[in-house]
Order: sequence, then structure tokens, then C-alpha cells
Amino acid sequence: MCGIVGYIGHKKAYPILIKGLQRLEYRGYDSAGVALISEDGDLNVYKAKGKVSDLEACCEDKDISGCAGIAHTRWATHGEPNSTNAHPHYSASGRLALIHNGIIENYMTLKEKLVALGIPFKSVTDTEVLVQLIEHIMLSNELTLLEAVQVALHQVIGAYAIAILDRKHPDTIVCARQSSPLVVGLGADGDFYLASDASPIAEYTDKVAYLNDGDIAVLQPGKELKVVNIDNETQHPKVKQIDITLGQLEKGGYPFFMLKEIFEQPACLRDCMRGRINVGADRITLSAVIDYREKLINARRIIIVACGTSWHAGLIGKQLIESLCRIPVEVEYASEFRYRDPVIYPDDVVIAISQSGETADTLAAIELARRAGAFVFGICNAIGASIPRQTQTGVYIHVGPEIGVASTKAFTGQVTVLSMLALCLAHERGTIRAEHYKEMVRELTLIPAKLEKALESNEQIERLAPIFTYAKNCLYLGRGYNYPVALEGALKLKEISYIHAEGYPAAEMKHGPIALIDSEMPVFVIATRDHLYDKVISNIQEVRARGGRVTAIVTEGDTQIQKFADHIIVLPDTLECFQPIIASIPLQLLAYHIAVCKGKDVDRPRNLAKSVTVE
Ligand code: F6R
Repeated sequence: MCGIVGYIGHKKAYPILIKGLQRLEYRGYDSAGVALISEDGDLNVYKAKGKVSDLEACCEDKDISGCAGIAHTRWATHGEPNSTNAHPHYSASGRLALIHNGIIENYMTLKEKLVALGIPFKSVTDTEVLVQLIEHIMLSNELTLLEAVQVALHQVIGAYAIAILDRKHPDTIVCARQSSPLVVGLGADGDFYLASDASPIAEYTDKVAYLNDGDIAVLQPGKELKVVNIDNETQHPKVKQIDITLGQLEKGGYPFFMLKEIFEQPACLRDCMRGRINVGADRITLSAVIDYREKLINARRIIIVACGTSWHAGLIGKQLIESLCRIPVEVEYASEFRYRDPVIYPDDVVIAISQSGETADTLAAIELARRAGAFVFGICNAIGASIPRQTQTGVYIHVGPEIGVASTKAFTGQVTVLSMLALCLAHERGTIRAEHYKEMVRELTLIPAKLEKALESNEQIERLAPIFTYAKNCLYLGRGYNYPVALEGALKLKEISYIHAEGYPAAEMKHGPIALIDSEMPVFVIATRDHLYDKVISNIQEVRARGGRVTAIVTEGDTQIQKFADHIIVLPDTLECFQPIIASIPLQLLAYHIAVCKGKDVDRPRNLAKSVTVE
């Protein structure tokens, strides 16, 4: 939700900021803006409704000089997307410009006080309140910008990552964070970069400091990074080395990031397992399980908290952990869990799953679990994000930056980590036979090659896709391990093609949804060979008997289903519990090709943002 980028140093700021915004555009794309301190000492703000390309067009005839600037790409929360509500916002005198990611919860109260003092507002955003408040405090008390920010943030309730430029101090950017991410990059020439995540910074430096909640940083080229809190106590965020390649941040010849990321999955899952499964493929080692063995193997219960696609991965994790480790598992939407006053025991283990590591609801669920004394374990992709820092231990999925808004490789990475975790715990608890454990570990290492085979269905799916573009509704059916795959397939279609879709456990259909079935309704059934296969065939027949049009995802060698299905997509065989990883591939491709046929912007679906940092 909203992307922030900033630069101060000796280089031209504008090209760095625009490139940074393009990298962050997945976080929001309804409007964008930039503030620059020009060579003449002016503080120029340019904003445009729409994408970063619209901002570039708007800046074509403007003064874009200067070596200090901040920029923003917006996902609207308060106020419609237009150029007035876009960031940066000027202060009343025009001396300050500010960008913000987050929500200021008490902005109405603060605004009323400022309006009563005669301070004019241009936008209807919560953000403008911040810049007016900071300037008012600064001018009426003759404070420095840093001091004014500290006083102002004492009055603010909510989530923020902010950055501020002051026309009178062109050599300084002040930035701060509370519950919204902010990373500072330390350049080799004493220059500074700042951004919502490391992707806009990686091109210029590999040294970054992830700010912590409550940190306020002062960036002045040639000087040490200064970080204090609102009470002016010095803070020491760790400077870390990041390992992001430019290739990971670019489309590499694919028309969309989503397609690139779908095709990256075999390599990503190899990366995910590397160093964790030994060369002989008979043992899994997860350092988190070694370090916290007793806590984990003695868990009375596991609660998985997550949102969206990560929640679907959690549903698969539940089946894996319950069947292999015999520990009861509950899977909760983080947004419900955090407000539900749930029963949490100190010997519960809470597993938080998140690609971005910044999802506000998942973070709040972690906080609640920790307060109740539970042990919290994270499964994340974004290195150094808030969730890995707020959990006691965890496992990174290591699939590289995911930029397409629809999650693909992160989902299969999450399921792969959950598979490794379940196997590891089962082995430690003695709930799996040694031979079975080895057989499963071996099979897991074969999954990347099987994904390569599954990806060969791309052309067939591309040919099939136009048939489904007319559909207003689609049904996805699966059972057992494939039920979450059906949910995930339906979510993928909804979010990028805007076709309504529902995922359902196939046998539940006759309790209601079967009434929807007619010849207009495409039904996608995941019918791979498992212990429920015959039952799924019966479910397919129930659909066919009502005129439904079935596309079945089947295992190679299947000869039965083609008699009942209009189309079949064939996948390599694997163990039942790993089938979700493979079966997700054709559903990701289907959603992708249907959306492309409908002319949709696959990487930037309407109303969505990659990182949901507001609740
Ligand atoms: C869907 C999708 C979302 C995310 C959800 C949670 O394709 O990407 O449903 O899964 O917003 O995000 P993370 O995993 O970053 O916590």
C-alpha cells in the first residue's frame, strides 16, 4: 500500500526517484508524485493521477534539477485518487513537502485543531495533516525539522512511514516509521537512498538499514546515518548486506512479471530447498527447528495466521502437519484472529505466513500471540521485513522478489517450506517411519523438475483461455489437499481477470452451489490421482449431468476422466501431499491467459496492492 522512495547526495535525484517508483509501483498505482529541491533552491512538487508513466509525462516540461528528492506512488485510503490527493503534500507556507505510507487514525481531531488555527488544507487526505502539523509546531516553537517531527509524532496515532524535505535545509531528508516499512540505503559516496523496500535501492548499494518502529532517521550526505526516537534517544539499526540482483527486478523478456514468476518456480523451489535438503536427498535440516526443537516438537497446538494466498498455503500446511506430525492445527485469517479474543495457550506455536512480511493484519496477529505468551514462527519471503523481525524464529522461502501483484511463486514456496517443516517436525517427533520420511524427502527434491514438465502445458492453456473470457462466473472444485488449490485458483482468476470465481470442496457442491451450474458456467476440477480420486469423478459426473462444462486437471496416464471432461490438462504424478505445488501451475497459467485475453493489466490489477500495510 503506497510506495515511498527518496534520494539525497551528489547525483541527479529525479531519474533515481522515477526508477524507484517503477520498482515500487506494485504497492499502489492510482497516482504518483515527486518533490525535488532544485538547483535554484526551490522546492518543486509535481503530481499526476494514474501510473508512474503519467507522472513522467507531467514532468516533461518541468524543472527536474536537484540532488535531493522524495517520491510516492499511492494506493488511496483517504480521498479519491486524483492529483490533489496524491503525495507529496506541501505545508501551508510551501517550505516542507511530505510523503506518507500508512493511515493516521486520529487525523480528524488533529485537522480540526489545525483548521481552527487558520491553517488551510488542499486535500482530503490524512497525510496532509502530518505536514501541516509538523510545520505549525516548527514555526510556532522555532524548532528544527527533526525536533518538530518528534513533537508531532507524539500526537499522532496510526501507522506511518514518512519522508520530509525542507526548502531551507536542502541537504537533509528526515524520515520516520511506525508500523509501515522503511529502508535506508547507504551509498558508497556518502549519499542516502530510502524506500519502502530494498528493490529501488539494490541497484545503487547493497548496504541497507531497516528502520524499526519508532525510529526517526536524518539523512545528510557525507555524514553518518543519524537515527533517534521521538524522545531523542539514539537508536542503532543494524546495517545489513542485501543480495538482490537486477535480473530479479526486471521482466527478463516476459510481457508481465506474473508470467516470469510463474516460469521461475522450478528454479525458485530449488533455491528454497538448497542447503536445507542434503545432497543424498534423505534429510531435511531447518536451523529454526534445530534452535527451537523442544518448543516446536512439544507444541500443544499450532495456529497458522495469514491472509489471502498465504492463508491458502496455510490450509495445505494444516493437512501436512496434522497428517505427518499429529499436532492439531488451526488456520485463521489474521484479520479475524486479531479481533476475536481467541484462546491462546503459552505452549501453542503460532505460524505467521506472509510473502511481503509487512501485512498489517498478520503483524497484529503476531503481536496478539506474543502477548498471550505463544511462540511465534514466521514463514516469509521479503528478507528483513517486519514479520521476520517480530517473530521468534522462522524460515525464509527464498524465492526472490515477487513483483506481480498476484502471488504465484511465493505460494509454491510457502507450501514447499511447510512441507519441509512438517517433515522435519514429524522426524523429530518420531511420528513418521524412517523409510517413509526418506521417500518423501526424495520426492520433494523431484518437484522442481516436475514443475518444468507442468509448465509445458502453457501453450495448451493459452489456446484454451479465449473460451473462458465470456464467463461471468467460474467454479473451482477440489478435495483434500486440492481443496486449497481450488480456492487459490479461484482467487487468481478473480483478482486479475475480474471474473467472479468460487473455490469449493467438491463434495460440498450438492449442498448449495450445484444450483448455479448450467452450460454457461465453466467448472475447473482438480482431479489428480489420490485417495479421493473416485469420489471426485462422481462429483464431475454430478456437474456434467447438469450441463456444466468441465475442465479437469489430471495426473498423467489418466484414462477415465477424459470421458467426462470437455478439456483435460495433464500433470506429472507425485505424492498426494505435494500435488498442490504442481496443480497450482495450470491454474496460475489459466488465470494469466484469461486476463491477458481480456486485455487486463495483469501485474497491476485494479484496486489491489502487493503489500497490504493497512488493515
Ligand atoms: C493474492 C495475494 C494476496 C496476498 C495477501 C497476503 O494473489 O497476493 O492475497 O497473499 O495480501 O499478503 P502477504 O503474503 O504479503 O502477507
